[in-house]
Amino acid sequence: MCGIVGYVGGREAREVLIDGLKRLEYRGYDSAGLALGSGEDLLIFKEVGKVVELERMLQEVPAGSHQGIGHTRWATHGGVSQVNAHPHKDGSGRFAVVHNGIIENYSELKDELEREGVIFLSQTDTEAIVHLVATSFSRTGDILETLVYLQKRLRGTFALALMWQDRPNSIYAIRRGSPLVLGSSEGEAFCASDIPAFLPYTRRVQYLEEGDIAEASPSGIKIWDEKGRPVERPVVTVDWDVTLTGKSGFSHYMLKEIYEQGAALRRSLKGRVVDGKTTVSRELGWNVEMVSKWKKIHIVACGSSYYSALAAERLLEKWTDLEIKVDIASEYRYRHIPCDTSTLAVFVSQSGETADTLAALRKAKAGGAHCLAITNVSSSTMAREVHSLLLLEAGPEIGVAATKSFTSQLAALFMVALQLGSMRGSLAPHEEERLVDELVRIPHKVELLLEKESEVREIARKYTGSKNMLFIGRGMSFPVAQEGALKLKEISYIHAEALAAGEMKHGPIALLEPEMPVLAVIPRDSLYEKTLSNMQEIKARNASLIAVCTEGDSLVPEQAGSVIEIPWTAEEFTPFLTVIPLQFLSFHIGSILGREIDQPRNLAKSVTVE
Ligand code: F6R
Repeated sequence: MCGIVGYVGGREAREVLIDGLKRLEYRGYDSAGLALGSGEDLLIFKEVGKVVELERMLQEVPAGSHQGIGHTRWATHGGVSQVNAHPHKDGSGRFAVVHNGIIENYSELKDELEREGVIFLSQTDTEAIVHLVATSFSRTGDILETLVYLQKRLRGTFALALMWQDRPNSIYAIRRGSPLVLGSSEGEAFCASDIPAFLPYTRRVQYLEEGDIAEASPSGIKIWDEKGRPVERPVVTVDWDVTLTGKSGFSHYMLKEIYEQGAALRRSLKGRVVDGKTTVSRELGWNVEMVSKWKKIHIVACGSSYYSALAAERLLEKWTDLEIKVDIASEYRYRHIPCDTSTLAVFVSQSGETADTLAALRKAKAGGAHCLAITNVSSSTMAREVHSLLLLEAGPEIGVAATKSFTSQLAALFMVALQLGSMRGSLAPHEEERLVDELVRIPHKVELLLEKESEVREIARKYTGSKNMLFIGRGMSFPVAQEGALKLKEISYIHAEALAAGEMKHGPIALLEPEMPVLAVIPRDSLYEKTLSNMQEIKARNASLIAVCTEGDSLVPEQAGSVIEIPWTAEEFTPFLTVIPLQFLSFHIGSILGREIDQPRNLAKSVTVE
């Protein structure tokens, strides 16, 4: 939800900032802007649309600035317009601010500032920040004191980068609740919402803690806590490869990330399933005594992460003796669900920053639950706030639609389920061994399935004119149907709905007609025959059927006009395979329709606002 970047050093600032903003565009892309230090005034440039529009505008601007801050926006307060785009400056033009997050008390601050004579130009909450900085600085005359005061006055979540005209060699950064990292190398410094923004220039990173205030300059980075006391934050060298954040010859990040799933899964499983046993307990810091105390598990997530949790729910029910509850974070956070020291609360989030999931985490933690985060981002807020952490190891996911993070979440959740089953004695050792033996074969089977891309593309061609599509599945395939429908909606903008196949005759069957395609997820499993009967009922009503089934199946092709086969796997692991054709299908339908695959309209990758 908005990306921010700041730079100070010897390079041409606007080049570094535009490059950084492009790498952060997955966070928001409705407008973009820069503030550049010119030695005298702060120059502000803003444009509605993607970062390339801003880049085009800057072609006319002479080079020569070595200090700047930039922003790519996903609108919250105030519509998409040039005036609402960041950076925002104060009336005197001495301060400029870019912001990610939400200032909850902004109306109150605005009233107060207007009473003091401040004139607001935009409808954003951010503008209150910059005016507050200016009015408070005019009283204190001290920048650190001003920023400490700012921290005290702002309610809500924010990551801010700030420029002050009088300090042409510094940029200031402040964070509370929203992500912000600092980077440094010889004679230059950076700040950004996410590391890829400055990865081409440095791998030396410092993570800001809640409430931290930083001043970054070519001579180094100084950090203070929210009370203004100097603090040290360790410098970490990240081992991310800059090519991981590029498209590597693929037309889109989404396609690249679909293809990366075999390798991502190998990394997710590496060292965590060994000789027929699950060994994640070491990484999680769990022992038998601790695990035996738990009576229930709550799994909380949003979107695709929620669907991976629904798949895990079915396995936890099977492999453990615990009571399982899976919920959407925006619901869980406001429900009266008992959560105490007998609860293991699991939070699944690719970004580790999703506002609702984070709020749910804080609620469960306050209730006394043992909190586990399953996330892809080791530096994320969730990773830092939980008792146990399991990283996806999927590598950066830049396409807005979740693909490799979904399958890596399945792997992580299934390993947690296996581990709990074996530690609590509810899963027999020979059963664990059978499952682990099959789990380690999954990356290879995923790679075999990737070869079906062209087959799926041909099927996709037939459905580009559809206005709606239904996805059905049972058991382990129902969450996959849900994930498939979500992918189609967000990538192609075709309305899609997922149903537990058995629910069709309770109402949705009334929708069936030749123009309503139905995609059935029907691998060879214990519920296969039930789903097959549902397919027969659908065919009898002349709807067009597409099926994802296990190779060698002779009955499904009799019902479905289009069939995509997956390699055989144990029932428990079919979601790893059945989801791949659905990812390709939405990609190709979206691509034929000319959609913005990596940045679908109205969406952002990290939903850091409620
Ligand atoms: C769908 C998608 C979203 C995310 C959801 C949660 O393709 O990407 O539905 O899954 O916004 O995000 P995380 O996992 O970062 O908490």
